[in-house]
Amino acid sequence: MTYIQVKDIPNHLDQTVSLRGWVRNIRHSGKLLFIIFRDGTADLQCVAFRPEIGDEKFELARKLTIESSVIITGIPKPHQKLEGQYELAIQDVQPVQISPEYPIGKKEHGPDFLLSNRHLWLRAPKQWALLRLRHTIYYAICDYLNQNGFFRFDSPILTPNACEGTTTLFELEYFDEGMAYLSQSGQLYLETGIMSLGRVYDFGPVFRAERSKTRKHLTEFWMMDAEAAWVEHEENMQIQEGLIRYVIRTCLERCDAELTILERDKEVLKAADAPFKRMTHYEAIEYLRSKGSQITQGSDFGAADETLLTEGSPVPIFVEKWPKEIKSFYMKRDPENPNLVLGDDLIAPEGFGEIIGGSQREDDYDLLLKRMQDEKMPIEEYQWFLDMRKYGSVPHSGFGVGLERLITWISGIHHIRETIPFPRMLYRIYP
Ligand code: 4AD
Ligand code: MG
Repeated sequence: MTYIQVKDIPNHLDQTVSLRGWVRNIRHSGKLLFIIFRDGTADLQCVAFRPEIGDEKFELARKLTIESSVIITGIPKPHQKLEGQYELAIQDVQPVQISPEYPIGKKEHGPDFLLSNRHLWLRAPKQWALLRLRHTIYYAICDYLNQNGFFRFDSPILTPNACEGTTTLFELEYFDEGMAYLSQSGQLYLETGIMSLGRVYDFGPVFRAERSKTRKHLTEFWMMDAEAAWVEHEENMQIQEGLIRYVIRTCLERCDAELTILERDKEVLKAADAPFKRMTHYEAIEYLRSKGSQITQGSDFGAADETLLTEGSPVPIFVEKWPKEIKSFYMKRDPENPNLVLGDDLIAPEGFGEIIGGSQREDDYDLLLKRMQDEKMPIEEYQWFLDMRKYGSVPHSGFGVGLERLITWISGIHHIRETIPFPRMLYRIYP
């Protein structure tokens, strides 16, 4: 027997086909039995008519329960009521395994219950759509970078030093070598990669021991760090904008069904594929104050400020040129104002917050050393990083995209926890 997948149903109309998958839902009344069948590629309504398939097969089909695994044979036809959709006239069912009562039912469940049953919740339509969207976004990011001369360069996860400050480090004892840390970002290693390959990126899990319980924070999330030699601040932002707009277009092209399930307004996404706005950090603070925020010059944004900043903007906003005190040690000083650094944050519209953090990097040995000393960093442990400024230093820039933040925005869902198969948060490590 050859099997087909639900997505290929339109190519097999009026032929007998077999499908392998699961029962999303089942109901029967009198001589009719309806199965909403799913196989990972799509859902399909399957209908059995007792006089047609006979009592024995009908009774077998009636034994199926929600989430039982099953092989169904039948003939695909255009759906009787829904235009452009299909249904299957069942000829035979072969139960593979009958599920006992499925814990996730039709009634509303709270988020705690669903998260504790994440291993099962993943099968729900919305979760299916999010998993597929994640897949598409992941590969769209890689496509764009590959097309623009970036090489994949895998940075380590076990590291001897911090990339983004020491307050959010997960520590562990590393044999006889002292403490090791789970990477917060592969950036520092990517800076070594550009000296060999020119343009590089990594894409993998990073870790932040953040005690923040918000809808935007995970303790384990996926970051794509990109780094490029000879690229300066302005071009760095152009690459970021090109990347995000490419991702949006790809999702609109390839994820129509997923965005529909997620009830995402596609026009809103289309509108975001236009030139992004720019503001300096100074201008952003002035703007926020004019809109009633209490924020003062020199400070970082809170979630409410990010929302206010992008209110009414269809496109993401770059906030650039930040006060050096509130940004990382590796950012290059603004040649026009030594109190500022050439960093940029990209803030998504509709209150979805920061999706990218990037900067031109300090490429001068002495300036970088001074900055690290001022911050009382253990210079010896970062000697390898300083070496990049000693042996053939070049102007260079890079940025990091938070994959789950990007998915949250593109899908339009409320909480970041649904964008990753198994979210790790302050109060959640199971399953
Ligand atoms: O702004 P961040 O901290 O930048 C860096 O780590 C740089 N070293 C990246 C680089 O230049 N290569 O983090 C980058 C992005 C943020 O803009 C945000 O989208 C995401 O990572 N992010 C988080 N996502 C989920 N949960 C958290 N706790 C996150 N913290 C940062
Ligand atoms: Mg940041």
